[in-house]
Amino acid sequence: MSSTKKVKKVTTHVLHEMKLRKEKISMLTAYDYSMARILDTAEIDVILVGDSASNVMAGNETTLPITLDEMIYHAKSVVKAVKRAFVAIDLPFGSYQGNSKEALMSAIRIMKETGGHAVKIEGGSEVEESVKRILSAGIPVMGHLGLTPQSIHKFGTYVVRATEDDEANKLIEDAHLLEKAGCCVLVLEKVPAKLAGRIAEELTIPVIGIGAGKYVDGQVLVLHDMLGITQDFSPRFLRRYHNLYEEILGSVQSYIQDVKNEDFPNENEQY
Ligand code: KIV
Repeated sequence: MSSTKKVKKVTTHVLHEMKLRKEKISMLTAYDYSMARILDTAEIDVILVGDSASNVMAGNETTLPITLDEMIYHAKSVVKAVKRAFVAIDLPFGSYQGNSKEALMSAIRIMKETGGHAVKIEGGSEVEESVKRILSAGIPVMGHLGLTPQSIHKFGTYVVRATEDDEANKLIEDAHLLEKAGCCVLVLEKVPAKLAGRIAEELTIPVIGIGAGKYVDGQVLVLHDMLGITQDFSPRFLRRYHNLYEEILGSVQSYIQDVKNEDFPNENEQY
């Protein structure tokens, strides 16, 4: 008897159905094969190959320096590990802002070279034409509004967005515009919970929050933050499920000690 179990893949259609039946969508970032394999085995619904790779993998202060080639490298590794999850990949800063043709060409490279299932793009009305053009090539697009880290130098700070009426109204307008343009999912980052809830209720596409409260259709966190690998990032919205930094540090210290004391390898660990 074969032990291969038929896997029901998560698709845009499945995500839409989950919203309809009010089943919350789980999403985490991943940037490499080994982590993506664990996430997929755990049955995460969506894996985001986020441009947060720029921070947690490459050590940059912002997401701006990461390149399209680097995003493709990370995404390729993730896709190889995934059997079930829906994999979305960030279009990095500088790969789509020029014009809609540039956006389309970047999205095509990502889809062709990685085997991922969708691209994510930051912004509202200013990226409408690009969203439509990417969609015209049959590529699903995830929107991203609220705190959009690629615009951090315009905001000047990582504080919660859309607390004032003007910005909240623009956010609501942009959310509707992205849905109308054809986005399959909308990510809302660091906005008031009630505002995010209102948007999730008004839209028919799933709204996934990070620091956007509990009234949305799903949640996303950066993997390195929720596992406690990163230490110096502690916003209110972050729940740490582990302190992997301490665990890894302790293991590495034990190994160093064992090597120095000639405790490793022992008789059974050699040929
Ligand atoms: O790059 C990323 O990790 C993201 C999430 C924070 C949504 O865009």
